[in-house]
Amino acid sequence: MTDRYCVFGHPVGHSKSPAIHAAFAKQTGEDIDYTAIEAPLDDFVGAWRAFVAEGGRGANVTVPFKEEAFRLCDRLSERASRAGAVNTLILADDGTTHGDTTDGVGLVRDLKRQGMSLAGARVLVLGAGGAVRGVLEPLLAESPASLVIANRTAAKAEALAADFRDLGKIRGGGFDDLAGPFDLVINGTSASLAGDLPPLPDDLFAEGATAYDMMYGAEPTVFLQWATERGAHGVDGLGMLVEQAAESFFQWRGKRPDTAPVLEMLRCSL
Ligand code: ATR
Repeated sequence: MTDRYCVFGHPVGHSKSPAIHAAFAKQTGEDIDYTAIEAPLDDFVGAWRAFVAEGGRGANVTVPFKEEAFRLCDRLSERASRAGAVNTLILADDGTTHGDTTDGVGLVRDLKRQGMSLAGARVLVLGAGGAVRGVLEPLLAESPASLVIANRTAAKAEALAADFRDLGKIRGGGFDDLAGPFDLVINGTSASLAGDLPPLPDDLFAEGATAYDMMYGAEPTVFLQWATERGAHGVDGLGMLVEQAAESFFQWRGKRPDTAPVLEMLRCSL
């Protein structure tokens, strides 16, 4: 029987994951079926159990179910434990459910693919929600010189930084007391969705800095437009999407797909 995988979300119709995983499967010769499933808002656990009963071997999880997925797992990877969220469910041979989060690894791999060296870099992360929490452990594992979290609600950034202080040099605060320069500025707020820009000082970027938006779209986000006007090299989150998918695929199938052609395909379809 063909192994089944899916992405759970609500809504999920816009998801690019089925196209990405179909491309990975074709490339690696893996016989899998990957679909998008809109789980009911009040019964995510039931949706996962039903999927497993029908031959499901694993799933990606997106908004708004990442925390619920975290809670249903029998076992968690260290990075998922830290993130408090799961984007990858894996059905183990003994029938238990394992959880992982591949978003942060996806971000770090995409940054490296751009030629960015994180070791010794001064890094600023904007936002202190679930998306940011999910990427902090892999970012700190690269040994940046410093990692600053800035958020509209300063107390949330301070609390988040405190949770990760044992892993590296990290501090949190508001936008008011931001002082550059930074080599890498990552926008992990959802401000881009509304076409908003966090209030940022003009002298944020060091020479040769990279501005990374976890969001993506056919046009550059407001943040990337603002950043490139100030001399930064702008990168959107499409590569992170493909890299996190590749890591999920590896967790399920033990094979690492070549992400470059898949990213190119997606870029053309935006
Ligand atoms: P996600 O799962 O995408 O991280 P979230 O947990 O709701 O979603 O977090 C959204 C983040 O975007 C928060 O850091 C939020 O700032 P607050 O904590 O102050 O709410 C930030 N955010 C959303 N809209 C914003 C805006 N217009 N300007 C600046 N920050 C914004």
